[in-house]
Amino acid sequence: MEEEIKQIIAEAKVAIAQVPEKELQVTLARYIGRKSKLTEILKSLGNLEINQRKIIGDLANRAKADIEAAFNERRLEIANQKQVDSMHRDVTLPGIKTETGHLSPITSINQELLDALIELGFEVVEGPEAELELNNFDLLNIPPDHPARDEWDTFWLKKGKNSKTSTLLRTHTSPVQIRYMQTHKPPIRIAAPGRTFRYEAEDATHSSVFSQMEGLMVDEKISVANLKAVIIHFVRKILGEDKQVRFRPSFFPFTEPSFEVDVWFNDQWLELMGCGMVNPQVLRNVGIDPEKYSGFAFGVGVERLAMLKHNIKDIRLFLSGDLRFIEQF
Ligand code: FA5
Repeated sequence: MEEEIKQIIAEAKVAIAQVPEKELQVTLARYIGRKSKLTEILKSLGNLEINQRKIIGDLANRAKADIEAAFNERRLEIANQKQVDSMHRDVTLPGIKTETGHLSPITSINQELLDALIELGFEVVEGPEAELELNNFDLLNIPPDHPARDEWDTFWLKKGKNSKTSTLLRTHTSPVQIRYMQTHKPPIRIAAPGRTFRYEAEDATHSSVFSQMEGLMVDEKISVANLKAVIIHFVRKILGEDKQVRFRPSFFPFTEPSFEVDVWFNDQWLELMGCGMVNPQVLRNVGIDPEKYSGFAFGVGVERLAMLKHNIKDIRLFLSGDLRFIEQF
């Protein structure tokens, strides 16, 4: 019986300490009420020997007092909490600013880029990050032994028998051009944002995981003038009308002529994107007649654009996970 009483006390204390206000009385009654175990014990004292009766009687009465004390303590605690709560609900107190999440600078710049392109009639499309060698290289006019492949050091996923079965992490967003042109006829105007991957040494302006935004426009009579107009439109819209932009002759196997676009940043030119007129061979590869259609394409580095916009000096900060960096935007 002694053991039983000790267990009742322990159980009651735990239950009372957690119980919400509306169940407080019921809980108390469960442990010391008329139908409780403790009352039953007290009622049965008459059946015990005189010595036992005194011991168990004392114990049961102390148990009752302990449980009542726990009940009073809990009632006080609830009353205090209510007072604190009602103070917090004082509508005359000044508001407390709660912390909210926000978009990463890459997401924001991507959105700004898309807004600028959508207003020119571009449609947003996406492609997979795990890509066929065929789409990432061959159909973009970069055959297996072409030296230009070295420019895009590659993370290979699976080396198959040929480029139709080999897979890799796409080294640029240009394969989305191929996928789209294989399934759509001109006029074409698409913007394709996404992450890209290169097996290369990292430094302040190079990361092995970075984002690009591909643009492609194919129609009758598209010229370099269209290419320049679109690029200058979105660069100046995002970076400001006063930004110095330069087009520098370059080489990409999938465009001819090709250019690199640089922007003046921290006293030097920072390369922002590659671009050019779609190589007629690429159009032929996807079944579009280059005699009738021409097009331009570009691939802009999204981190580079964000660096220019927010004066960020090291690209590695984007993937550092450092909240002090991220919370500034
Ligand atoms: C390309 O990736 C071409 N696909 C771009 C293109 C598309 C050309 C369509 C013509 C037509 P390039 O390797 O230069 O090109 O990369 C394009 C841009 O991505 C660069 O100008 C730069 O802004 C960014 N970039 C390239 N490598 C890195 C890197 N390691 N880290 C961060 N940004 C990079």
